[in-house]
Amino acid sequence: MRLVAAELVESREILPRQWLQSYHAPSLAIGSRAGQFVHVRPGDFSGLVLRRPFSFNTIDAATGVVTIHFRAIGRGTDWFAHLRTGDSVDMLGPLGRPFEVDPRSRRVLLIAGGLGIAGVRMLADEAIGDGRQVVLLFGAASAAEVYPSNLLPDEVEYIVATDDGSLGHRGYVTDLVTEYEGWADQAFACGPAPMLAALARLAAGRRERLGVAKLGRKGGGRTDAPGSAAARRKSFLQVSMEQNMGCAVGACLGCVVMGTSGQPQRVCREGPVFAADELDWEAGW
Ligand code: FES
Repeated sequence: MRLVAAELVESREILPRQWLQSYHAPSLAIGSRAGQFVHVRPGDFSGLVLRRPFSFNTIDAATGVVTIHFRAIGRGTDWFAHLRTGDSVDMLGPLGRPFEVDPRSRRVLLIAGGLGIAGVRMLADEAIGDGRQVVLLFGAASAAEVYPSNLLPDEVEYIVATDDGSLGHRGYVTDLVTEYEGWADQAFACGPAPMLAALARLAAGRRERLGVAKLGRKGGGRTDAPGSAAARRKSFLQVSMEQNMGCAVGACLGCVVMGTSGQPQRVCREGPVFAADELDWEAGW
């Protein structure tokens, strides 16, 4: 974890009230992974106290630029949206645990609901860089809120669902998943909690529907500790949780969700990425 001064090099509104901002932060661009996030402090004259968490959207290690994607929904994010190139913010990161891709997974399914694309976008770059095939299922309320395809690598197969049918499949993005669950070796998702809960239910029934075995592993009889990177790497579905945060370093307990172990899980420390079967989706949070 590092505290760095990051200079804004590009800011653009890619969708109504949704912004992509690129910051020069070389020490964050090295070693940070998809699924992790930064906690960013508004400037001294903003009148705001709390930092805001933003997922890494993309990282260019060669130029030392990290990009975040956010929706301007309040004073804090409005303040960030009004920054100009050359302005500086301080970023604390990388924070949280990243997605864990099984080295043998060749076909990766990404599922994003709305701004949840911010949580999985970087994984597309990592997976393609590792020679994997990537399908991205994206859901939004309408065509006006669909993530622009020109912001994705050419190699990504991009499939859209909209609630009103104005683009792509009419209905929820979860409707599309069963078509790809046999193709995918692993799936990774970010979006609203009800979407993630629906995906977790689908994943729980996948093996029975498809009649497939788990990805075979050497030492398959060994049980990895729940919550460990090894255990997550073996799960079919990993989810990145979107949760309000206070401290983002595990101290305030403002971000907890309930685990199937019965223990609260801090999204900022044990997450934001979890194996879907680590969380108690019936607990509500
Ligand atoms: S935000 Fe404080 S414990 Fe997670």
